Amino acid sequence: MKHRLHTGSNTVKKTSYAPRGPLLKEALAMQDSGHDVFFFNLGNPPEFGVRPPEEVMLNVVKNIWGCAPYSADFKGIFSAREAILQEAQNAGIKNVSIDDIYLTDGVTGAFILLMWAFLRPGMEVLMPRPCYPAWNAIIQAFGGKVVAYRCDERNGYLPDLRDLEKKITPKTAFPLFISPNNPTGAVYPRDLLQKGVEICRRHELPMIFDEIYSKLLYDGAEHISIASLAEDLLIFTMGGIAKNYRAPGFKGGWLIISGSDKRYARGVIDNLNTLASIHLCANMLGQSAIQTCLGGHQSIKDLVSPPEGQLYLRRAVAMEELQKIPGVSFVVPQGAFYILMKFDPKVYRIESDFQFCLQLLRETGVLIVNGTGFHCPSKPPFYARLVFLEDEHRLREGIRRIGKFLEHFNGRKK
Ligand SMILES: Cc1ncc(COP(=O)(O)O)c(C=O)c1O
Repeated sequence: MKHRLHTGSNTVKKTSYAPRGPLLKEALAMQDSGHDVFFFNLGNPPEFGVRPPEEVMLNVVKNIWGCAPYSADFKGIFSAREAILQEAQNAGIKNVSIDDIYLTDGVTGAFILLMWAFLRPGMEVLMPRPCYPAWNAIIQAFGGKVVAYRCDERNGYLPDLRDLEKKITPKTAFPLFISPNNPTGAVYPRDLLQKGVEICRRHELPMIFDEIYSKLLYDGAEHISIASLAEDLLIFTMGGIAKNYRAPGFKGGWLIISGSDKRYARGVIDNLNTLASIHLCANMLGQSAIQTCLGGHQSIKDLVSPPEGQLYLRRAVAMEELQKIPGVSFVVPQGAFYILMKFDPKVYRIESDFQFCLQLLRETGVLIVNGTGFHCPSKPPFYARLVFLEDEHRLREGIRRIGKFLEHFNGRKK
């Protein structure tokens, strides 16, 4: 049968998501044909035995029938929103009521709703570089323009606030911060966040803060919710259970709106209410897990603590093995479960980080994601992100394979 040709939305065509892009397609094809692939590409904890708390799973199962209907309130079930409110209060966030909390399909769902509600064509969003690429894609899909501010590697990938402020224009919608950060593992300290708040105050801008990795902290790093530093400022804080509670498939997320005078966001909030009600409700499995996740014993603390926490150990193994590879360096991640590897251009003549990762995958079975997929510059030095969720044995083996591959890498100077 003949059809009209449908070419699809142009705004979406310009976007992509490298961790699940063409490298993964190739890796899955290799796996299908019998290869042992080391999936160091995606932050998907339960896939690697880093499981959600048992109590959470049991409570979701107990409540499984309750998950069949839409929630009565389009913002989500009361018990979960109340638990989020208490968590926000404990984190020092003021000027929030239960009405200011929306449950969403993961943090991704929160960001989609918010961008859809917020952006007008041509609005500029100040985004970290390197960055979690889904956010850039979503901003562009809703007609916004990404303006990158520098996160300086020499300063532990912390945002360069001077660069950020220089890039503010009348079209700026807001800056976005991610802490702990993907892909760099940077955790933003109090004084930096405080300065970020002051910039927003000076320019009368709201801020968006993604704290999905808020409890994945190492070496005594402290997570600070930026909203706790500015009760006056309009701040949209996004969180969820995907990483801290290792249940990404439940897609349990939330959006908290804080600030002393929300009338300044009236239009955005009205739009959010319209969109959330059109969506009917967020995934009920995610909603029903939230209260149990947030209350009681926080098993994530055990996982990130020395000497035996599984994530602590996996990070240590990854760093130990990477340090053995000449010409590869990285900033020690203070949070999350990623390491951004840098390849010294004096040692390795990489021409394209994507081709490099593809060649690595084909020759060794190890899948890491090219830095340009996270908006790292497309000229040397090149970067790639490694996820250290695999078990210690496979992490060691996979990283050793990267080392061996590099020993014989074509472009390597002798
Ligand atoms: C910074 C950041 N925010 C959000 C997400 C996705 O959150 P969710 O699974 O809740 O949609 C990710 C996933 O890797 C992430 O790295």
